Amino acid sequence: MRILTLRSLLLAPVALGYVVNEGTTYQIYPEALTHNGQAVDDAPSIHQAFDLCGINGTVIFTNNTFHINSILNTTNLLNCNVSLRGELRFSTNTPYWKSHVYSVIYQNQSTAWLFGGINTWYTENKNQANQPGRPISITFYNSTNLLADGLTIFQPQFWATLVWQSTNVSLRNFYVNATSNDEWGTVNTDGYDSWRSSNLLVESATIINGDDCVAAKGNTTNLLVRHVTCHGSAGMTIGSIGQYPEWPDYVENVTFDGVRCINSSTGAYIKTWQGIPVDQDSNGDVGGGGLGLVKNVTFKNFEMINTSLPIQISQCMYSESSGACNTSKLQIEDVSWVNITGTSRYNVVASLYCSDPVPCPGIIFDNVTFESVNHTLGLPMWNTTMQDEVYQCANIDGQNSSGIPCNRVAPDSFGGVSHNVQ
Ligand SMILES: *[C@@H]1O[C@H](CO)[C@@H](O)[C@H](O)[C@H]1NC(C)=O
Ligand SMILES: *[C@@H]1O[C@H](CO)[C@@H](O)[C@H](O)[C@H]1NC(C)=O
Ligand SMILES: *[C@@H]1O[C@H](CO)[C@@H](O)[C@H](O)[C@H]1NC(C)=O
Ligand SMILES: *[C@@H]1O[C@H](CO)[C@@H](O)[C@H](O)[C@H]1NC(C)=O
Ligand SMILES: *[C@@H]1O[C@H](CO)[C@@H](O)[C@H](O)[C@H]1NC(C)=O
Ligand SMILES: *[C@@H]1O[C@H](CO)[C@@H](O)[C@H](O)[C@H]1NC(C)=O
Ligand SMILES: *[C@@H]1O[C@H](CO)[C@@H](O)[C@H](O)[C@H]1NC(C)=O
Ligand SMILES: *[C@@H]1O[C@H](CO)[C@@H](O)[C@H](O)[C@H]1NC(C)=O
Ligand SMILES: *[C@@H]1O[C@H](CO)[C@@H](O)[C@H](O)[C@H]1NC(C)=O
Ligand SMILES: *[C@@H]1O[C@H](CO)[C@@H](O)[C@H](O)[C@H]1NC(C)=O
Ligand SMILES: *[C@@H]1O[C@H](CO)[C@@H](O)[C@H](O)[C@H]1NC(C)=O
Ligand SMILES: *[C@@H]1O[C@H](CO)[C@@H](O)[C@H](O)[C@H]1NC(C)=O
Repeated sequence: MRILTLRSLLLAPVALGYVVNEGTTYQIYPEALTHNGQAVDDAPSIHQAFDLCGINGTVIFTNNTFHINSILNTTNLLNCNVSLRGELRFSTNTPYWKSHVYSVIYQNQSTAWLFGGINTWYTENKNQANQPGRPISITFYNSTNLLADGLTIFQPQFWATLVWQSTNVSLRNFYVNATSNDEWGTVNTDGYDSWRSSNLLVESATIINGDDCVAAKGNTTNLLVRHVTCHGSAGMTIGSIGQYPEWPDYVENVTFDGVRCINSSTGAYIKTWQGIPVDQDSNGDVGGGGLGLVKNVTFKNFEMINTSLPIQISQCMYSESSGACNTSKLQIEDVSWVNITGTSRYNVVASLYCSDPVPCPGIIFDNVTFESVNHTLGLPMWNTTMQDEVYQCANIDGQNSSGIPCNRVAPDSFGGVSHNVQ
């Protein structure tokens, strides 16, 4: 059957490697078809197809398994329509990925596929497979008017996607499943991250992972996230931000609407670094001391099932030292949690700690109702015998009219909270 396919390939009008074109439509076939199924790198064919795609072109990955043994850079596309019908299998050559991936500058992270351009459509019919190696699977970079429909990422090496320096980028029908198949958990497998980008949509997504489901990082503005289900995961987040003093982080106009979190650690939260830079934190990262503003964020219509810490503001993520949360000068304001319901794993619903120097105005709870998974009592917070549902607050401007039933003072270190909700 495959040989027949190849014969027809050879009869096609123009065959360039394993790229076959008709007009401005370029079909890519895997090298494995002529190499007895060996995992020969298909990246050169892919680059060739995108180089030829030009203006108003279409690139079709035929319904086959493609081996990606080297990095992909398909940027500066113009009116390009990409259809991934088969499967991309990223090689497991971890040393290669570590030394060759493209830098995305932020946090020294890197990516295996840099993808972007103006007016690009990316649709997928089957799936995309990755293996551990730790670059971001696909980075939508320097893109304007990009729609990715049906993107599916299994076993991302690291964060599944990053939208970077882009505007008008929509991901629809998006699926990520980072399920560890060994004894090691999946770490830092964020489903969707955005940085330095605006006018973004994430719609109809299912994300199974061990870290942020969707995270809006520095200079993300006008982001709408709706109809998303997160399994495991750390839910919906703004942050972490405030890591770099040289790059203040502005995050404005973000709405999360219609979210289900199942067995998540956190659900709907905002995390900033502490105000004093550290060389190394408990997360193995460096930073802190960054300024900026988080303004006009809405979390609405959430259902959370068995979430450890459903709602949180922390201004000293990763810091265990007492008082650290009081050092951040990154302002947070106008944040609403509306129609949020579900079950908390422990008897803690919310921990909201705004930094002393920049108390938070405009923090609103409207119709937030939780019940502990343990209806009779609530699993007591770790190492306590507390039995009621806890709402911890500190430095909330206008706390009495916020709608938050504050009944405890929030601890001024991140560890103070996390130790209580293990
Ligand atoms: C590309 O498509 C646009 C609109 O569809 C058209 O205006 C333009 O002429 C096309 N350019 C080329 C080079 O085909
Ligand atoms: C792609 O091929 C697989 C078998 O390898 C088949 O199950 C699937 O239906 C095909 N998908 C499309 C869109 O043709
Ligand atoms: C990616 O390819 C473009 C050409 O299309 C080039 O200008 C750019 O420098 C490449 N990016 C990286 C990070 O190598
Ligand atoms: C970003 O996109 C613009 C077109 O909008 C292009 O001219 C420029 O070369 C791209 N820059 C990089 C670094 O890819
Ligand atoms: C995620 O993938 C694992 C196997 O890798 C599978 O067992 C599980 O059902 C998938 N989860 C969902 C919700 O699709
Ligand atoms: C965000 O944008 C402002 C200017 O609007 C800039 O000063 C700052 O460095 C940017 N931060 C990041 C993380 O890019
Ligand atoms: C936020 O939305 C408001 C109202 O649509 C708009 O005026 C403002 O410019 C937006 N902010 C940013 C940073 O885009
Ligand atoms: C807040 O952001 C939303 C989009 O998330 C926007 O519709 C609304 O106009 C913004 N409100 C203000 C006061 O800027
Ligand atoms: C409240 O959120 C739930 C989802 O958790 C949704 O089904 C319901 O329609 C929402 N209520 C309103 C009034 O929007
Ligand atoms: C309040 O929450 C309940 C329980 O989720 C929901 O049924 C109702 O629609 C919500 N009302 C509003 C106005 O959001
Ligand atoms: C509920 O809390 C009670 C009292 O702490 C405890 O005995 C019981 O085991 C808890 N239930 C579950 C399901 O953990
Ligand atoms: C548990 O709480 C007690 C009393 O508050 C404290 O003395 C003890 O150190 C705590 N244990 C741990 C392991 O933190």
